[in-house]
Amino acid sequence: MRNSNSFDFLKAYNMDRRIFTKACISCLGLALLSPMVTSCQSTHYTTGMIEDNGITVLKSEFTYLKKDQPMTRAYIIVRNENLEFPIYLYRFSDNEYSALLMKCTHQGNELSAAGDHLHCSAHGSEFNNKGAVAQGPAEKNLRTFNVTTEGDKLLIDLRS
Ligand code: FES
Repeated sequence: MRNSNSFDFLKAYNMDRRIFTKACISCLGLALLSPMVTSCQSTHYTTGMIEDNGITVLKSEFTYLKKDQPMTRAYIIVRNENLEFPIYLYRFSDNEYSALLMKCTHQGNELSAAGDHLHCSAHGSEFNNKGAVAQGPAEKNLRTFNVTTEGDKLLIDLRS
């Protein structure tokens, strides 16, 4: 037969076990989320340089070093005070890029970049890396800008 002291001990033991289990689950969750956090941190922003007809970005903005090895980013984001919305600049190859205005065509919310697509947190629309609607409610594709390459520079034509 248990006395009240042994019940207290069991309650404390069960409480410790629950706290321990919760701590383990939290640690596991953090471990699983850490690659996502890392990928969020890897989003690269640049202001670019405003020119007469658009904005210039250096190709080198796409490169970075990982363990001393040169790596290439799939996309960067151009955020400049002269732009109403940022521009998602996606690299298909050294000479092929897409530049998309990060403004949702449904109701004008700013989009977020998620790898090779853009997501709208307002109502869930998604667009691919060429600006085409991948999921509604948006029905119109994103505004795109012509991108030309000139040596080590990219010119995003804001008139297009
Ligand atoms: S504003 Fe983007 S889905 Fe509605």
